[in-house]
Parts: sequence; structure tokens; C-alpha cells
Amino acid sequence: MIDKSPQKIKEMFNRISSKYDLMNNFISLGLHKIIKKCAVNDLLKDRNVNNILDCCTGTGDIALILKTKFPDSKITGIDVSPKMLELAKQKVKNVKFIEGSCTDLPFEDNSFDLVTIFFGLRNIEDYEKAISEIYRILKPEGKILYLDFGKSKYTVTIFNIIVNIVAKIFFQDIYPYRYLLKSKEEFMVEYDLVNEFKQKNIELIEQKKYVFNTILTLLLKKCKE
Ligand SMILES: C[S@@+](CC[C@H](N)C(=O)[O-])C[C@H]1O[C@@H](n2cnc3c(N)ncnc32)[C@H](O)[C@@H]1O
Repeated sequence: MIDKSPQKIKEMFNRISSKYDLMNNFISLGLHKIIKKCAVNDLLKDRNVNNILDCCTGTGDIALILKTKFPDSKITGIDVSPKMLELAKQKVKNVKFIEGSCTDLPFEDNSFDLVTIFFGLRNIEDYEKAISEIYRILKPEGKILYLDFGKSKYTVTIFNIIVNIVAKIFFQDIYPYRYLLKSKEEFMVEYDLVNEFKQKNIELIEQKKYVFNTILTLLLKKCKE
């Protein structure tokens, strides 16, 4: 099992921050930006999303797409890595970026219409706590837009090869890229994750698949009776 202690995760993302966007462009052949854009635009049909939280915001890719789609909404990005956030602040204007953990969200109950979390939950050791926190800060009938890799032997093999080659050629420190592959392999399959959400009263609305077996999931917060 890989070490996902919060300090280790924070240090790793701090270390790779300056190469994070470049590496994403290489290993996805530039497709990650298109996938992220489609993911935000395909399933979100609501217009009245006034308050949005982007969890594990990283270098701000999702915050930027959200700001373009919802220019009048209040958007906040949260991440544990100050170095990733520095880059997000340079990339995206009119979005508030906060250093903090999704396992202890510094927001009031029932305050957000939408939470996005892209390629994030599998990095969080106590992901159940993060799901509970997201539930707490979402308004009743608030939505979660979740994107991550699904499980497939075929894409794992191709992806592993691309990541290993690119990491070896262009980057000296390949631990973070090995981590990326391992965290993908070790995290639960997509239907188990939907069940985790369901146990916290968060229901599946819709799912959609993209290239590299990336799976987009739209979920809804139900109110406890
Ligand atoms: C793979 S990156 C994804 C970044 C961005 N969402 C994207 O799609 O490009 C994962 C991010 O999650 C952050 N992260 C990891 N654990 C976290 C936690 N407990 N709370 C908030 N952010 C966390 C990392 O610092 C990193 O920036």
C-alpha cells in the first residue's frame, strides 16, 4: 500500500508543482484539458449555482473552466499544497484559493450549491471523512461533480507505459509518477465509490465515460429524514 499520510501527500505535490501541468500535457497527449472542459460542460445543466467549491483544486484547471462557465458565481478552490495553489492564483483570477484539507473544510454547513472534485479523492487517506465534509457543506439538493480514472487493465497498461517513458525522459524524480499509477490501481472501483457516496446519503444522478477510461460522476445530496 502506498503512503498517503497528509504530510507526505502535501510534500509530494509541493515538489512536483512546477512540472505538474507540463507532465499532464505529456502523459495525456494534451487531452486532459479537453476532458476536463467536457466534464464541466456535459452534465451540469443548472444555471443557479451561486456558490461553488473545487476540492483538491491543484493548479486551478477546474476553477478556470468553472469561472468561464459560471462567471457570476462565487468560486473557491481548496488544496493542501501551497505550491500548487501559488500556480492556481497566477492562472485564475476572481477565484478565492484557500490552503486546507478536504477532511476538515473551513466552511459553514449547507453553504455550497456545487462541489467539484477531479482526480482528488484517491489522494486522501481518510476519504470517508472528506465525503462527510463535502456532504456537510453542500446545500440540500446540492450536487457533486466527480472525475477520475475508472479501472481497466487495458488503459492501465497503456497509461503505465506512457507515464514511465515520459517520466524517465523528462523528469529525474519518478516517484510521483509511480505514485500516480499506484494510487490509481489501489483506489476502489467506480461502483464501490458510488456506494460509498450512497451510504452518506449522496445519490448517483448520471455517469459518463471519456478517453483513458476517465469517468465523470454527477451526484446529489439527499436530505436525511
Ligand atoms: C492529481 S491533483 C488534481 C488537481 C486538479 N483537481 C486537476 O484535476 O488538475 C490532486 C490534488 O489534490 C490535492 N490534495 C491531496 N490531498 C488533499 C486534501 N486532503 N485536501 C485538499 N487537497 C488535497 C493535492 O495537493 C493535489 O493538488
